Amino acid sequence: MILVLHGPNLNLLGTREPDVYGRTTLADINQQLRKKAEAAGVELEIIQSNGEKELVDAIQRSLSEDIEGIIINPAAYTHYSIAIRDALAACEIPIIEVHLSNIYQREEFRHKSVIAPVVKGQVAGFGFKSYYLAFDAMLDLI
Ligand code: DQA
Repeated sequence: MILVLHGPNLNLLGTREPDVYGRTTLADINQQLRKKAEAAGVELEIIQSNGEKELVDAIQRSLSEDIEGIIINPAAYTHYSIAIRDALAACEIPIIEVHLSNIYQREEFRHKSVIAPVVKGQVAGFGFKSYYLAFDAMLDLI
């Protein structure tokens, strides 16, 4: 099973700062990911949370459950959540970090990802397609 985690405010995709994040909704992205998973014959679980605890708890599930890989857009937590970074560091499965926007092109506080050093790789800057690129990369890793 692949676990997809969406962090805070990503539930607002479609209406949230559309110039930055586009008009595709989270439901659209999730539906497309489910289609891709079905075509690949892999199980998928998708969680969106506005809270750090829920994301840490979901990551920790991979230590005891049959989760083969994690695709995560930590959203704002990317830039400062040591708790999410530490939870990911404890996992031995492949992890891919996703961002819709190119965080290195934006405000300076977004240039730093505390998550990047503990993941296999990062996909950023391709809008909603970042998720699909990450999903395809994950299929090669599991
Ligand atoms: C984001 C980039 C983050 O800086 C921001 O806080 C988000 C979304 C992205 O997908 O581009 O909420 O992770």
